[in-house]
Amino acid sequence: MKPKILSIITQKGGVGKTTSAIHIAGSLDRLNYKVLLIDFDTQKNLSLGYDIPGDFEYNVEDFLLTDKKPIFSERGKNKNVYIIPGSSNLKEKKLKNSSLKKAVDKLKEDFDFVIIDCPPKPINDELSLGEIAVFASDYVLSPIRADKYSIAGIGALISSINTLKTNDGIKVNFLGFFFNEVEENTNHFTGFYSLLKDSPAGKFLFKNFIRKDVTVKNAMDKGQTVFEIKPDGRASRDFTNLTDEILSKITDYEQK
Ligand SMILES: Nc1ncnc2c1ncn2[C@@H]1O[C@H](COP(=O)(O)OP(=O)(O)OP(=O)(O)O)[C@@H](O)[C@H]1O
Ligand SMILES: [Mg+2]
Repeated sequence: MKPKILSIITQKGGVGKTTSAIHIAGSLDRLNYKVLLIDFDTQKNLSLGYDIPGDFEYNVEDFLLTDKKPIFSERGKNKNVYIIPGSSNLKEKKLKNSSLKKAVDKLKEDFDFVIIDCPPKPINDELSLGEIAVFASDYVLSPIRADKYSIAGIGALISSINTLKTNDGIKVNFLGFFFNEVEENTNHFTGFYSLLKDSPAGKFLFKNFIRKDVTVKNAMDKGQTVFEIKPDGRASRDFTNLTDEILSKITDYEQK
């Protein structure tokens, strides 16, 4: 069956895209889904997050620009998460808007999900890696922080995706956005949550959110996920609940 393709995109940097890509993949793994993660950012944080050596024999440029048989970096024994590491030389100039879609369509492996970790950049008139990812995707997902800059970017992203849908006839859906690094029970967070919930974009806001938790940083430092270092901790629970909501939203779309 064709995998479901999910891109994680925001124009604002440092809001938790890479962390979410890694942990949504980890949650899907725990549900026995087979997942391919693509590091589509020249910062290569996803590859670093998994401690993949910089000289790994195959990377996203090979995937996009050659017919070499993919070699995936595997995440240890009995894991269902495979990775195409990033390249610091990845440039829009070498690509077309359909490049990633074509490469993903050619995958022979039987993945349930492909998750694409994108760089922080707005999608505008110039061809960007984010736009190329949108072209390949069934769904786009965005983490946000409870601050006005992060939130301002969401409206712009939704409208850029709608423009691509109208102008280029692509079938992508904006799955929604969720708060990350939440400091629960603060007026700051509850204020932003209700402001957004009551706004026109409110229908895209996930009920679940990810709390700020040092386990996330500890896991990153060790090249692991929170599921490995604290499987029953609150960060594990948060990502598990978020992933359940993602799956249920995807089911809703697919039944429409
Ligand atoms: N829920 C969380 N609790 C604690 N720290 C977090 C949490 N989410 C993310 N972080 C930390 O915030 C930093 C930025 O996260 P991350 O790299 O995932 O953001 P990003 O959106 O991918 O950044 P960029 O836009 O540069 O690609 C990292 O140090 C990460 O460990
Ligand atoms: Mg990142």
